[in-house]
Amino acid sequence: MLDSVSALPNASEVPRHIAIVMDGNGRWAKSRFKPRFLGHKQGVDTLVNTVLACADRGVEYLTVFAFSSENWKRPNDEVSGLMSLVLLAVSKYLGVMNKNGVRVRIVGDRTDIAAHVKEAWDHAESGTQHNTRITLSVAFNYGGRWDVVQACQRAIRAGISADDLDEATLSRFMALSHAPDPDLFIRTGGEVRISNFLLWQTAYSELCFSDCLWPEFGEAELDAALAEYARRDRRFGAIKEPQAVELPLVR
Ligand code: IPE
Ligand code: IPE
Ligand code: MG
Repeated sequence: MLDSVSALPNASEVPRHIAIVMDGNGRWAKSRFKPRFLGHKQGVDTLVNTVLACADRGVEYLTVFAFSSENWKRPNDEVSGLMSLVLLAVSKYLGVMNKNGVRVRIVGDRTDIAAHVKEAWDHAESGTQHNTRITLSVAFNYGGRWDVVQACQRAIRAGISADDLDEATLSRFMALSHAPDPDLFIRTGGEVRISNFLLWQTAYSELCFSDCLWPEFGEAELDAALAEYARRDRRFGAIKEPQAVELPLVR
C-alpha cells in the first residue's frame, strides 16, 4: 500500500507510462447513499483531473481501465449507464483534452459496442489525433486475454509464420502498440489484483495499490504513487552491481 508523499521524484524518475485500474466508484457512491452511476460520473471528472496532473508531471502515456470484458456481468442498468457516460464524457471534455494537448486512444473489443458509442469514441480519437503532450488510452471492453488472442489472430492474418513470431513481433499487434510498456501500474479501491487488465504489457511494471476509492484519487495520491515508484529498484532480471572482472559464460 502507498505511504504518504515523502519526496517528489526527479524528472528522470517520472514514469513515461502509467496504467491505472480506476476501481471503487460503486463503493464511493454507496457510502454517500447515492446510485452507483453517480460514482462512475464522478470517476470521469477524476480521470480528467488525473490526465492533466500526469501531463503536468511529464508523464507521456496514461492508460486507464474503464470497462472490462467481464463488466458485462453487471446489471443492465449499470452497463447502459456506463455506455451513456461515454457520450457525456466525450461531449463534455473533448474541448479540455484539445486545450491541454491530450491525444485520446480507445483500446478494446469494439465488436459488441453500440454504433452511437463507437461513433463517440471515433470522434474523440479523430478530434485529438494531432495532440502530442500526453496520450490517454482508455481501455473499454478490454481484457488482457482478449488482447493476446486478438494480437495472435491479427499476426496470423498478416501472414507472420510461427518461426517469425517472437515477442517484439507480437507486441506490434497488441492493442497498446502505440505506447511503451507501463512503468507504473496503480490500482485504486483496495483490491490487490490485476482483474484481466494489461497482462502482457505489465510484465515488468512496478505495482502500486491504494485504498483510495477512484472518485477521491487526487494529486496527493498521484504524487504518493510517483514517490513510491521513484524509490523502487528496477532490475529487469539483472543485478545492480557489475562484477569487477567479467568471467566467460558457462551454460
Ligand atoms: C470501477 O468501479 C469502474 C468500473 C468497473 C466500470 P466499480 O464500479 O468496480 O466500483 P466498486 O468496486 O464496486 O466500488
Ligand atoms: C476492474 O474493476 C475493471 C475496471 C476498473 C474497469 P472490477 O471492479 O470490475 O474488478 P473486480 O471484479 O473487483 O475484479
Ligand atoms: Mg470494482
